[in-house]
Parts: sequence; structure tokens; C-alpha cells
Amino acid sequence: MAAANETVELTRHGDVALIVMQNPPVNALGFALREGVMRALDAVARDAALRAVVLAGSARAFSAGADIGEFGLPPRAPSLRDLIAVIEDFDKPVVAALRGIALGGGLELALACHARIAWPDARVGLPEIRLGLLPGAGGTQRLPRLAGVARALEIILSGDMVPAARARQDGIVDALIEGAFPEAALAYAATAVRGPRVRDRDARLAEAKADPDLIARAAAPLLRRARDGLAARACVEAVRAAVTRPFAEGDAEELRLFLERRASPESQAQRHAFFAEREVAKVAGLGPEIAPRPVRRAVVVGAGTMGGGIAMCFADAGIPVTVIEIGAEALERGRARIAANYETSVRRGSLDAAESARRLALIAGALDFAPVAEADIVIEAAFEEMPIKKQVFAELDRHARPGTVLATNTSYLNVDEIAAGTSRPGDVLGMHFFSPANVMKLLEVVRGAATAAPALATALAVGRAIGKVPVVVGVCHGFVGNRMLARRSEQTERLLLEGALPQDVDRALTDFGFRMGPCAMGDLAGLDVGWRIRKAMGLRAPVSDALCEAGRFGQKTGSGYYLYQGREAVPDPDVAALIERVSAAEGITRRGIGQDEILERLIYPMIDEGASILEEGIAARPGDIDVIWIYGYNWPVWRGGPMWYGAQVGLARVRDRLAALAAATGDGQLRPSAALQRAAAGP
Ligand code: 3HC
Repeated sequence: MAAANETVELTRHGDVALIVMQNPPVNALGFALREGVMRALDAVARDAALRAVVLAGSARAFSAGADIGEFGLPPRAPSLRDLIAVIEDFDKPVVAALRGIALGGGLELALACHARIAWPDARVGLPEIRLGLLPGAGGTQRLPRLAGVARALEIILSGDMVPAARARQDGIVDALIEGAFPEAALAYAATAVRGPRVRDRDARLAEAKADPDLIARAAAPLLRRARDGLAARACVEAVRAAVTRPFAEGDAEELRLFLERRASPESQAQRHAFFAEREVAKVAGLGPEIAPRPVRRAVVVGAGTMGGGIAMCFADAGIPVTVIEIGAEALERGRARIAANYETSVRRGSLDAAESARRLALIAGALDFAPVAEADIVIEAAFEEMPIKKQVFAELDRHARPGTVLATNTSYLNVDEIAAGTSRPGDVLGMHFFSPANVMKLLEVVRGAATAAPALATALAVGRAIGKVPVVVGVCHGFVGNRMLARRSEQTERLLLEGALPQDVDRALTDFGFRMGPCAMGDLAGLDVGWRIRKAMGLRAPVSDALCEAGRFGQKTGSGYYLYQGREAVPDPDVAALIERVSAAEGITRRGIGQDEILERLIYPMIDEGASILEEGIAARPGDIDVIWIYGYNWPVWRGGPMWYGAQVGLARVRDRLAALAAATGDGQLRPSAALQRAAAGP
């Protein structure tokens, strides 16, 4: 047994060397690991008694690729490309033994080996595109030579993981292994001969060489789905170079494109988002000693759209769930809606009929609170009114066992007040899902003043188990996401009153990268919801109110800010006239408003609100706010989230622009807050 260094172990087994990478948790290819493998290879090269090498990782990961954390640092030799060059030209066969994941640079390392064997649980992939990158260590050149050009484009542009069996069919893996590790790998390597290098195997490129349109055809549908068009196009260009140029030139082109993307603001933002998403799991006061309670059975109170969507989340994760409603009719409507949702998935081919039936069978209905006694967690999704919430929680308190987590799906109400009405405020918290609940990944977990750590840990664990990204937030009106959204909505209304039309406002955000602007979004969600709430609270939003008074509730009535032809939104001259009338009635002289001003007025107030949210401790880190906006509100991930964007613009500039806009428009809502002023001034 010998340690090449602290992260790499080299052992000899007869005439086969075993090099094991040990850089937990996922063997990211940081400097120490690269250096260790290089040293081990050097020792093997000098030992004439050794005739073959197995390169392996842990059971969890052969390697998750380049160490993303090193991207901002000065390069340190040996680089991954140096290592790959040494392996590829090694005069003894090197066999990559794949268990767990082999991703990005990890797969590229394996592609440079002379053979790849995989255990059934192995998964390979090139997920670089999700970081705004392309594979940068030969992946775009070697993968097409093994899997063919069309399949390589699919793997590279989707970033999806490919299970071992499929990788075998694709030609990426040479053999599937059932035997024990490392014995089976050593046995395989003992008979291995050093075949041609992957870089020299051009047969699978022939089809694309003969058909110059193949790449464009194969790439077109993948490019349409890509969230970062620049990275996606760079991936395609690099694969094109694999086909049209000799290996060394194609490889150099890949590196050029990779370095360009790595330095791009789009990739920096996505790397920030990657780490921010992992940081949110780190919650103050929740150390490893706080174990989440097991959750085997759930109850959802309320069979409305939200309650139904939440119930589906549990069923999708295999957790039995009972939906409680007060009336049989409402319960039946809810059940029918859930069944219809599953049917749609079956029709679209994303779910098979048997699985859909299995999930439906996990969802029961009840007309009283008795099932609460059996539940480990209850999520209340009843009407958004405090007296109703209090009534429901009194029932929950009466029926639930000690230790059951009692969660409210409120979007705005005070979780502490709801908790105070029970005999067990420590078990009460908020679990704020986003619509449609079975689709959107964000879950705001609202920690009340009295919420106990085990209850919080359970809510987070459940959130992850049902496929959400849970972010812990504190109690305030609207929590993080909706509190910031309110600032944007306020400005949408002001901009329409002052001179912009819905299409102008929306274009500013779609040009920025959002899939939809606030007006189209309002039409989708239904304008009547906010209208009713405003009426109940004695508030006004003159344009939106006027639309609702005209019966224009959005898509569901065929008209709102836009006119709908099917689902297509068309600007409506009647809306322009209506808005002009409302402006006049409010005594406002309309003016042309430029796209830059619209964008600043939609986004900067959100950043301003974010500064207050951070100062008040409602969110723990700027990255938490970014994760909320990326997963809950479709903030374009290549823009990193509102707080990341604010930091790129510079908080001092955001502050100054808000002050200038407030002065120019007379709108006090635009004035920078004290929290933003302090944040902009720096520590
Ligand atoms: N570099 C640095 N750290 C990494 C990493 C990487 N490539 N991959 C994972 N980590 C870290 C995570 O930040 C996390 O750290 P933490 O515990 O301190 O928060 C830890 O490893 C465990 O990761 P997860 O919590 O994400 O664990 P999961 O089991 O849920 O997922 C994973 C594992 C699927 C590997 C996921 O982490 C992942 O997708 N990682 C990124 C993979 C990737 O994008 N690879 C390509 C890198 S770029 C590249 O290789 C360039 C090359 O082409 C030149």
C-alpha cells in the first residue's frame, strides 16, 4: 500500500496497479488529486513489473469533474489536460473503473483511458453546460468519437446523466461489470491490451463528415431548450470542430471556447448559483446532531389547486398522503383535478399509466381531521385568511400526535401568530410552495420565533425528499420572494400609469432573460386574485383594477393585459385606450419611458428590498435570495439571481440610480432604503 499523496492511493496487485482517487465527497479534480494521480502514474511507469493500470474513485464517485471552486484561482500544474495527455500516451493500458458518477472532467479523464468499465450504478455525463460552460478537457472531441456526433450533442447539450447500461449501448463504456470491486477491475485490466487511443478513432465521425447538415439538424431542438444560448452554441461549435478538423486542432478550439465561456459573466453567475444552492442547506442552529424525524405519512388540508399540487409532490415521492376538505364536492373536485394532471403527464409520455395509477392510489381523501392522528407532517393549504388558519390549526393541535410537524402554506400571513394559537408552537412552521406546486422547485421554509430545530430539520428533509429546494426564511409579510415581488408589481403599475404599455414592460424583462414579463405573468396567474385581496384591504392598483372591472381577468377569460388567441398573447388597442383613460383620471401626463428605465425600475427596487431582508435576517445570505428567485420566479440562472446581479451592477450604483429615479418621478417608493444605503457603503 502506498499513498501517492493524501488524496491518491497506489497499490500493486500482481502486475496490475490500482490507483484510487480519494478526495471526498465526490472526487472533484482539484490540484492535490491531479498531482497525486500524476505521481502514481509516474511510479507505475518506472516499475517494469507492472503492465496495466486501473484508475478508480469511490463507490459514490469516480469523479464529479473539475473542482469548480478552483475556477477563479490561478492555474496550478499539472492541469487536467496535462494529466489526460499523460494517460492517453501511457505505454501500459489504463482502465477507468466507473462506480457512482463520472461527470464533466471526471468523464473526460475516463475518455482518455484506454478502456472504460462500469458497475451498474454508474452514471456518466458532461453537465458543464449547466455551469454556462462546455466540456474543456477534450470531452467535445472524444465523446463524438465513441458515441457518434448526434448522441454526443444530446449528452453535451442536455447535461443529463447517462446510466451505465445506456452508456454501454452508446459505446462510451466498453464493459459492464457485476463482480466485486476492485477484484473484477483488476481481472479485466490483467488481460487488457492497449488499443487505439480514443482520439485516433474517427469511424463514428464518418456520418457527420459525409452529411454537413447533420450537426445543425441534431442541434436545433437542443438549442431551443438550452437556458444559456451562448454556452449551448459554444458546445455545438466545439463538436463541429471535432468533425471538421484534425483532433489537435479541434481540441485547441474546444479549449479556446472553454476559456472564453469560463471567463464569461454568464458562467460566473451559474457557478455562483451552483454553490448558492448547496449553501442553502447549511442552516444556523441545525448541526448534524439534529436528526430530522421520519416522515412516513402526510396530510394536506385543503383540496384546492395548491393543496392538490402539494399532495402530488408527496405521492410522486412515494409517501402516502391524505387530503382533507370540509365538503364532499370540493374534495371530489380536487381529486378530479389531481387525476387530470396525472392523465396529462401520461398523455405527454412523461409518466406511464401504471405509475400514474400507483401515485393516485397513494392519495386518499377525508372529510374530517381524524387522519391527522396518523400523520408525521401536516401541510395546511386552506384559504389565506387568519381566522380560518387559526381554526384549522386548533383542529390540528387537537388531533396530531406530539412531534408531528404542523406547517402552513401561507404566502403572507404571520406564522408566529398561527403558532401561538396552538399548544405546541415549536412544531409549527411555514412551508410555502410555489404554483404549480408539483412543478416549481422552490420551497420557502418559514422558521417561526418558536420553531424548534427538529421540526425545522424535518421540514427541510421532507422538502428535499419531495424534490424541492428548501430555503429557510424568517417571518415577515410575504417572506422573501413575494415581498420582493411586491416591489416589482408596484413599479409595473406605476410604469403603466406613467406611459408604458404592458408589452413595453414585459419586453424589458424578457430581453433581460425572463421567460415572461410581469403583465403576461399576471394574466397567467389571474388578475382577479390580487384585485379581491386589494379590495378586502382597501388598496388600489388603478390599471389592474380597471382591467378586472372590465372583466379582463387574464388568460382564463381570454383577455387581461393582453388579448389571447389560444395561449398567444397579443397587444390589445383596447388596453392601451383603457390605460390612457386611467392615467388621465389619475391626473398623470403620460410620457415615453425607455427600456433602460423600465428595467431599472423593475429590478432595482427588488435588490433594495433584498438588502432590507438581509439586514433583518429574514434571509441568511444573498445567495439564499438568489436561489429563491431562480427556483420560484424563473429568474434567468445565467443572471445569477437578483442579489448577484445587484453586486455585479454595484450596490452603490443601484442606490444612486434609485435616488435619481425617485427624484425624477417623484415616486417615494423608488427611494433607496436605509438598508441599501448601509449595504452600498460597505463594511
Ligand atoms: N467541484 C467542486 N465541488 C463540488 C463539485 C465540483 N465539480 N461537485 C460537487 N461538489 C461539492 C458540492 O459543492 C458539495 O459541497 P458541500 O458539501 O461543501 O456543499 C459536495 O461536493 C457534495 O455535492 P452535492 O451536495 O451536490 O451532492 P449530490 O450527491 O447531491 O450531487 C453531484 C453530486 C451530482 C456531483 C453534484 O454535486 C454536481 O452536479 N456537481 C457538479 C458536477 C459538474 O458540474 N461537473 C463539471 C465540472 S466543470 C468541469 O469538469 C470542466 C471540465 O470540462 C474541464
